[in-house]
Parts: sequence; structure tokens; C-alpha cells
Amino acid sequence: MSAPRPNPLPLSTPYPPSPRRAPVGTVAKPLPLIIDCDPGHDDAMAIAIAVARPELKLLGVTTVAGNATLPRTFENARRVLALLGAGDTPVAAGAAVPLVRPLFTAAYVHGESGLEGAEMPEPGGRVHEAGAVDLIARLVEASPEPVVLAPLGPLTNIALFLRAHPELAKKIAHISWMGGAIGEGNVTASAEFNVYVDPEAAAEVFSSGIPITMVGLDVTHLARMGAAETARLDAAGNRAGKIFADLLRYFLIFHRERYEWEFCAIHDAVAVAHLVDPDLVGVVHAAVDVELGDLARGRTIVDWFPQRLVERSRSASADVAVSIDSARFADLLIGAIATFD
Ligand code: BDR
Ligand code: CA
Repeated sequence: MSAPRPNPLPLSTPYPPSPRRAPVGTVAKPLPLIIDCDPGHDDAMAIAIAVARPELKLLGVTTVAGNATLPRTFENARRVLALLGAGDTPVAAGAAVPLVRPLFTAAYVHGESGLEGAEMPEPGGRVHEAGAVDLIARLVEASPEPVVLAPLGPLTNIALFLRAHPELAKKIAHISWMGGAIGEGNVTASAEFNVYVDPEAAAEVFSSGIPITMVGLDVTHLARMGAAETARLDAAGNRAGKIFADLLRYFLIFHRERYEWEFCAIHDAVAVAHLVDPDLVGVVHAAVDVELGDLARGRTIVDWFPQRLVERSRSASADVAVSIDSARFADLLIGAIATFD
């Protein structure tokens, strides 16, 4: 078995730590949140945090094609909402294909359905037939407070929403996105899955001017759940704990085969956990570009040095996740799942 890396970024020059820009929800003032996702084992766990934590007010869930086709990710999101007793949450299906490229799915990670490994309940949620872009727009318009978006899949829906409703961009307080990486790839050596699937959408969203946190593989590969954490979920004694433990056992197959890891990386849940725990993830503010060419399609090019030798006009900036407290993450996730029936 390969030894886990001690630090995601062995650097010759330490990056300067930056103050985070992502807002943090509190029990007194919960953050209004919309999750856009492609469930997905780790998407399901991210939704569990959003439903469980009183610091977040989950306004709605939208789905995109990514880990599986759109009908599957939509059905999976609805099954997850039913499991979590959140059957009243508005839910809508969005884009079935990326902006310009054919769809590439991850059945090799999540199984053909996108959420293999557990007996899920019948689909729930309050279906919004007019679709994801319309649902996001209505929820953002209706919210008295600016809304936080947590996209956990390819950014297709978010790019389409910003194209259709540029006037609402000012009501998006922040985007906490799981995707990209400074130094790793999981589809190719260059690219993380969510950005690889729809790099054009990622480039559009990054250049929107909305503050973004990019929670990439450098930290999500350290957000680990292995045998000990699975046993804690089983021991929680609730139905949700048992189902999430079953999902983890399936998710482990890919991690074992691909990396020889005895743990799963719970990528998406980090982007949501970041919004409730200010001490979980460290960030550095950096310029970020998305590569649209073929050789390194979907690579996120991150430059955290304030003095750039060559200014690139299309550089956008983001808070890029560079560290995580792994034990704290596991406690937060298991604690959230344990609150359900
Ligand atoms: C991302 O890709 C998907 O398989 C996961 O759900 C996560 O959003 C990790 O690269
Ligand atoms: Ca996902």
C-alpha cells in the first residue's frame, strides 16, 4: 500500500496564508445555500451536512450531468433528500450535457447509477419542473440575504444561470466549489473530474467576478473516511448511518483499485463543511486559470505569488484550499449523519 502523503504541497517557497472570504453560517444567522450536484457518493454526504447543520439553510438542490447522466443524478439527489427527511426541499434537474463537449461520466467511481452500494429510499424532494436555472433564479430572487452556491459537480448549471441572469450575480455572496487542484489530477494527470468534464463552464464561472473558494484535490484527498469511520457510522445505529456506511464500502472499491488506498476521499463534503467550520480548511488567495486546450484539458493553473512576471488578462482569482484538519472533518461528517433517523 502506498503511504499517504504527509502534505499536499511540498513547496520550495511557502505560500502566504490568506484570510478566507467565504462566509460562515451561524446558528443565529444560517447561511442561505443552494447545492448544485451530481450525486455521487460524496455529493450525498455533502447534502447530509447541509441538511443536518443549523448553520446552513438549504434553499434548494439542483442537479447536473457528471458522475452519471442527468436522469440518474436527479433521481439520486431526490433519494438522498428522502433519506434525510428533507422531502420538502425544492429540487430541479439542469444540464444534461456540458456547454460544448460530450458528456464524460464516472461510472468507474460511483457505479452505473451514480450511487451504487446501498438500498436508497424512494425519491423525495419538491420537484421544480422549470429546471435548475429557473429554480436557482427564483430562490436567489426570493432570498432577503445574498445566497451561497455550493456546486459539487461540473459547473455547467452555474454558467448557464449566470448567462441567463447576469443581474442576479450580485446576489450571490460566494461560490464554494469542489473542483480543480493545484498539483493533482484524478481523470488525467492534469485535471480533476469536475473541471475536466466542463472546463468552458469553469472558465466562465471563474471570470464572473463572484468570490469563489476552490476546494480541490490537494485537500479533498486528505478528507478521508476508512474502516474506522465506516464502523462509527454503522455504530451510530440509525438508518442514515447504515446507508452511508454501505455507500462508503462501495466508494472504497475505486480508491483501493486506483490508488491502493484503504480510505475514500469525501471531496464534495469539504466544500459544504467549509461553510460551517471556519477552522477546517486553510486557503490562499491566488490567480486561477482554466486550461481549455487538449493536452492539459481542465487543468486549474494556480499562481499564489502576488507579483506575477507575466500578467495574463484572463486570470481570475479564488481562495484556493491548501490545508485541512482531517480528523475534524471526519467528526463533522459523522456527527451530521448521526443526527438523522
Ligand atoms: C469530484 O468528482 C466526482 O466524482 C465527485 O463527486 C467529486 O465531485 C472529485 O473529483
Ligand atoms: Ca460531485
